Amino acid sequence: MKERLQKILSHAGVSSRRAAEEIILAGRVAVNGVVVSELGAKADPDHDTITVDGKRIGTDSARVYLVLYKPAGYMTTLKDPQGRPLVTDLLKGIRERVYPVGRLDYNTEGVLLLTNDGEWANALAHPRHEVDKEYHVRVQGRVSPVQIQRLTAGVELEDGMTAPAQVRLVRESDNNTWLSITIHEGRYRQVRRMCEAVGLSVVRLKRARYGFLGLEGLSTGKYRFLTPEEAERLRQSSGGEKTVPVPAPAPEKRREQKASGKNHDGKRAFAGKRAGESAPVPGKNRGGRRQS
Ligand code: URA
Repeated sequence: MKERLQKILSHAGVSSRRAAEEIILAGRVAVNGVVVSELGAKADPDHDTITVDGKRIGTDSARVYLVLYKPAGYMTTLKDPQGRPLVTDLLKGIRERVYPVGRLDYNTEGVLLLTNDGEWANALAHPRHEVDKEYHVRVQGRVSPVQIQRLTAGVELEDGMTAPAQVRLVRESDNNTWLSITIHEGRYRQVRRMCEAVGLSVVRLKRARYGFLGLEGLSTGKYRFLTPEEAERLRQSSGGEKTVPVPAPAPEKRREQKASGKNHDGKRAFAGKRAGESAPVPGKNRGGRRQS
């Protein structure tokens, strides 16, 4: 979330708010490499690189990494003008301001990552970084080998051809067919549009896997903290630079969470900090149209 620079500087322990104004007016502050010397200027401490005299300021936010089993009927935006339920409503025990990594449609369910680590989120959601996402799709009626072949090869959408996908017929009944579709792109409503393009009508869509990460141990509406190893593995699979440390030992057993923000032993599995940052103070975080 964007905040006034003087507030960010004072929260980061650089100076008092009054003194921070002097520092800003003196042209000593840069946001993402651009000097900012107006007092009204805002930045997002979780996304922007803020420097004073060329040195990056520390943030006191613990970095948190979550996987939520998103139910259908929830928005992945942080507000909704129509007042529909938000995925963040399911995270009542999380004090840090986390936000979804990419988007899932209102009616799509399944794996949704959330974090307050902007670099990690950007690395995963970046179109260049091709993390596989597997979707389980129920469509109306039967699916022909030609339709499967077209989905596999790539189909023409309004915004261009889709990359080749892995498509598997999982099960069929008289009325429905279940497909597994694995893609690495993250275009808006991509799976639904791919299916429509080959004449299939999607009845239900669930993201079953994001990279190696599935929904094991979670039921709909519940979440858990990622272990440091999981967060790091995801970062590596996205090709991002190493930022996720391996500090807090994960509890031996991880259980699903609901609104408590704690694991079965009452501790967080992982609320780490990035290498080079000052020690995290839990609870003090201040905190596109791609889907990923
Ligand atoms: N593809 C879609 O069509 N919708 C989603 O929510 C995710 C991928």
